[in-house]
Amino acid sequence: MSETLFLGRVLSFHRRPEGADDARAFLFHEAGAVHVKDGRIVAVGPADQLRSAAVGAEVVDHRDHLIMPGFIDTHLHFPQVQVLASWGKDLLDWLNTYTFVEEQRFADIAHCEAMAKGFYDGLLNNGTTTGVAYGSVHAASVDAMFSEAERRGMCMIGGKVMMDCHAPEALLDTAQQGYDESLALIERWHGKARLHYAITPRFALTSTPAQLEAAGALCAKHPDCYMQTHVSENVSEIARARELYPDAPDYVGIYEHYGLLSKRALLGHAIHLEPREIDALVETGAKPVFCPTSNLFLGSGLYDDAGLRARGIRGGIATDIGGGTSYSMLQTLNEGYKVLQLRGQQMHPFEAFDWVTRGNAEVLGLEGEIGTLEAGTAADMVVLNARATPEMRLRADRIETLAEELFLLMIMGDDRSVAQTYVGGVAQKDI
Ligand code: GUN
Ligand code: ZN
Repeated sequence: MSETLFLGRVLSFHRRPEGADDARAFLFHEAGAVHVKDGRIVAVGPADQLRSAAVGAEVVDHRDHLIMPGFIDTHLHFPQVQVLASWGKDLLDWLNTYTFVEEQRFADIAHCEAMAKGFYDGLLNNGTTTGVAYGSVHAASVDAMFSEAERRGMCMIGGKVMMDCHAPEALLDTAQQGYDESLALIERWHGKARLHYAITPRFALTSTPAQLEAAGALCAKHPDCYMQTHVSENVSEIARARELYPDAPDYVGIYEHYGLLSKRALLGHAIHLEPREIDALVETGAKPVFCPTSNLFLGSGLYDDAGLRARGIRGGIATDIGGGTSYSMLQTLNEGYKVLQLRGQQMHPFEAFDWVTRGNAEVLGLEGEIGTLEAGTAADMVVLNARATPEMRLRADRIETLAEELFLLMIMGDDRSVAQTYVGGVAQKDI
């Protein structure tokens, strides 16, 4: 049995903070500890109290740093690790020029396997311990993605992209093939180790009505799977979706019609929603996902977090690699903060760090497993250093509160601020 006591400044949220003074929303121990046995947290609290129960445990000292639950990224694309930072006019131009070209390379299994290593190295280097990922259209890309996650003991969600029209021939499946291959992948991977399947019709523009119907049939057959797709990201995309599905009331209505919306549905971007579409999210429990670095990079628009929250909708936040420009959830918060500023909305650092940990876990319905440091959850953790660079150290000398430290981390921080990442209590980062 492996047993470790991690010493550090321990921070974990148990509910969404209501503003800057809501210290009851989280647990924080300046001289804290996390006691881990066989990959699970057994206790969290003040170090002097935990030491007596952890006699004989290996002690890992992070006392200068913050120990938090590992970050969760609720939307990203595995086959886009070599698309990131590709110049493009807007979403549809970028998809056609780079993404649909690059994803064809995932027909080659050796390429999938090599990219899977880089993908997880990137996530873990940045403190992300769980991701919700799109594969390519090739079922083998998902085998590579899940095999590597299983090898690393990670909790991952993902699925094969279903796309049967309006893309290069080499990237198309058919409605039947998309159904059959997704079903086989569900049987192979869903519930295995720490892996979950997401039924993944790419978006309405690249699926025929027959394919969306097949995706709906999969959701009905496997209601415990997730469903992920894109919606209302870009104005030209929305116009095209309306052209292709003229009978639908709006873009969200397309997915609604085919039975794709439920509380396990994750809708990437969801920027330009109309009131009826927001009603549909409220009714079905489907979750929008805010992808700030991508939305800025592709010039897609400004996500309305406060507007959605006023309707009781709590979305996820994500990188959207490779439309997104960083693996770092710290950098994602940085740009998310600025997007919301342009909307006249503020993201307090307590809310921000709750969002990338417990909040995203809640969006996934996995809050008993990941996203906090509560006893019984997986020991997936990130260790953060707000003094990682000379410039951060200079700034940090003027910091007086935890909120100020967190804000510095989310504005100036990136992988250099991630001192270590643990999956099931096992260190992942070369230092
Ligand atoms: N819409 C459909 N496919 C994609 C994709 O790969 N990235 C983004 N950002 N939007 C999409
Ligand atoms: Zn995406």
